[in-house]
Amino acid sequence: METLIPTINRLQEVFLTVGAEVIQLPQIVVVGSQSSGKSSVLESLVGRDFLPRGSGIVTRRPLVLQLINVAPPQERLKIENGNGVKQNAQNSYPGVKAEEWGTFLHCKNQIFADFQEIRREIEAETERSSGDNKGISPEPIYLKIFSPKVLNLTLVDLPGITKVPVGDQPEDIEAQVQEMILSFISNPNSLILAVSPANSDLATSDALKLAREVDPDGRRTLLVVSKLDLMDAGTDALEVLLGRVIPVRLGIIGVVNRSQHDINTQKSLEDSMKDEQAFLQRHYPSLASRAGSRYLAKTLSRLLMHHIRDCLPDLKARVTVLSSQYQARLNSYGQPVEDHSATLLQIVTKFASDYCNTIEGTARHIQTSELCGGARICY
Ligand code: GDP
Ligand code: NA
Ligand code: MG
Repeated sequence: METLIPTINRLQEVFLTVGAEVIQLPQIVVVGSQSSGKSSVLESLVGRDFLPRGSGIVTRRPLVLQLINVAPPQERLKIENGNGVKQNAQNSYPGVKAEEWGTFLHCKNQIFADFQEIRREIEAETERSSGDNKGISPEPIYLKIFSPKVLNLTLVDLPGITKVPVGDQPEDIEAQVQEMILSFISNPNSLILAVSPANSDLATSDALKLAREVDPDGRRTLLVVSKLDLMDAGTDALEVLLGRVIPVRLGIIGVVNRSQHDINTQKSLEDSMKDEQAFLQRHYPSLASRAGSRYLAKTLSRLLMHHIRDCLPDLKARVTVLSSQYQARLNSYGQPVEDHSATLLQIVTKFASDYCNTIEGTARHIQTSELCGGARICY
């Protein structure tokens, strides 16, 4: 079942290559007000430090992040040496020695094995298009992270909702950011991760307000309550987390991310997760097993699987139509094929037919899978 998402990610690439985003793909989009903890939440999902974070406007361009699960280096080596292990595009990365690494679409052939450098490259690329004085740009940065430790997910980090222009920001910064966010979350195939800090009133949550605009029934919105550790003495988020303040259909998950002090003193994510669990056990014992960053990752992965399963029939129909259209165009080129675009079309057609087979296999697998047998979420 895990093979389904890389397949979809590959499909996205192919369509990007031919200059069209023909198929709407499920992806997880983080929204929330500035400094609510969006980038921190994404980092803990990935399990590595690599996103620019901090107070004020730090994320200034959309970041489309594909997490790709790969085998550990020793296993990959065996695969490359042909030691009887079945080879496929997903577990073969000849020449890459690193356990975890990243690549960017804007410098495709460069392998970033140092996650600090990934962060620097995001910062540099942000400045290239939006200047160094807090300007924003709607043009996404595409980053892939390959690791044996990640679930296969596509995530989108977005600039936070902000009200008052600072630096080089235009007068209508609020409207511009909202438009950028809406363009991502209005895609019906987006799962919305609405991040709202525990130390501000949920009723004023910008994240939930925007999510409601495009998803009034709450069929694809999950609420993440961040900063549980920063609540005033004598208050807690229990009522919020239990959904008694505002119910959220897909769930409400409380988390504790690293504080600015933790970031400055380079506290590891591992320690942070341990402390998060200890905090939850101490303050929310009845909820500890249904809260925290790890539980969030599991929940997201499950929601995505349900979602993809429900999209399969439609996706398959679309791919079939596209495939025959491309086939017809291919035929009209005749032989021999000289044109570059024809070669691309051939790739797409080949891919589309492989893809249909994968979908059929996966659909059968999902139907018989125990994992999906339990309570049916509306995804
Ligand atoms: P974004 O602007 O929404 O992407 O937020 P960031 O992830 O950049 O975080 C903004 C600031 O809040 C950073 O200084 C983080 O260290 C801090 N922060 C985020 N989440 C938490 C949390 O759960 N607890 C604490 N104490 N600080 C947090
Ligand atoms: Na911030
Ligand atoms: Mg951010």
